[in-house]
Amino acid sequence: MLDVARHFMPKEFVKKYIDLLALHKMNTFHWHLTEDQGWRIEIRSRPRLTEMGGSTEVGGGPGGFYTQAEYSEIVRYAQEQYMMVVPEIDMPAHTNAMLLPYPELSCGKRPPAPYTGTEVGFSALCPEKEETYRLVEDVVREIAALTPGPYIHMGGDEVEALTHAQYVGFVERVQDIITRAGKRMVGWEEITKARLLPTTIAQQWKSDSAAAAVQHGAKLILSPASRVYLDMKYDAATELGLNWAGTVDVSDAYGWDPATFMRGVSETDVVGVEAPLWSESIKNLSAAHYLAFPRLPAVAEIGWSPAAARDWENFRVRLAAQAPRWRILGINYYRSPQVPWAPEGAAGR
Ligand code: ACM
Repeated sequence: MLDVARHFMPKEFVKKYIDLLALHKMNTFHWHLTEDQGWRIEIRSRPRLTEMGGSTEVGGGPGGFYTQAEYSEIVRYAQEQYMMVVPEIDMPAHTNAMLLPYPELSCGKRPPAPYTGTEVGFSALCPEKEETYRLVEDVVREIAALTPGPYIHMGGDEVEALTHAQYVGFVERVQDIITRAGKRMVGWEEITKARLLPTTIAQQWKSDSAAAAVQHGAKLILSPASRVYLDMKYDAATELGLNWAGTVDVSDAYGWDPATFMRGVSETDVVGVEAPLWSESIKNLSAAHYLAFPRLPAVAEIGWSPAAARDWENFRVRLAAQAPRWRILGINYYRSPQVPWAPEGAAGR
């Protein structure tokens, strides 16, 4: 997952990130398109979403958005590398930018105004207003038409301004809308509070709801923040990134097993692992590289190799052997002291 909303990532940036995902055998690109700080995708029936919501970002920079033609170009680019795109429209919270042109649909903790900070949870679409669902329908219809893959991610995380009943009702309505648009819903784990269809997928990031979700028949994507959030700092000295889930060095990203990590969850409940890269602290590709490498290859191996074939001592040597290749590709990677890198300039033959 790449967050292009906290800081806007132009089309060429996204393509270069997709190249690196493909190089490491990632097969799904979860594109986090909307946030409190910016709305990044043209919706033709609702042009004010990008007119008003597209020009802000964390720190007050110029923001930006993708036209539908650019969106389709990136989807095709990913397809050519055998990668499925899963677009995310985060709702009902993380919607401050979506609400700038629709203040009458805001039931958050404060009236919508351009937001360039990094707090979460304060915004919310009004779940009782029918006009809210007309807006969601317009967005989902256009995104579904642009997206060949079977999934639309509705976010659903970190809602602080609604009651439990309001939240559950909203998730179930949006699940209906996405289903009627011919897609399967994905949502962050909070959606497991609602009645989910067997086709819906929950994405675990905190792990506290996994067992209940599985009992309800949901399949899971595992993205435990303490292991695979690529925006966590490597150690206390890392300048980029955040640390609310702790620090995550390469051995943390590699040293867990999706089949046993969460109580009450077995391998058949898990459809995949995913490493999100949130962009509060990321302003350019070099910064994205630094946080993704070398943790991204660790997550790729978790996803593709059975536990019996994974071994940290062996992995860290094979990881070190990738570094000359990364340098030729211009990848700015973190020289983790856990990895036995060869002296630079020594390799390359
Ligand atoms: C999340 O990190 N809020 C899904």
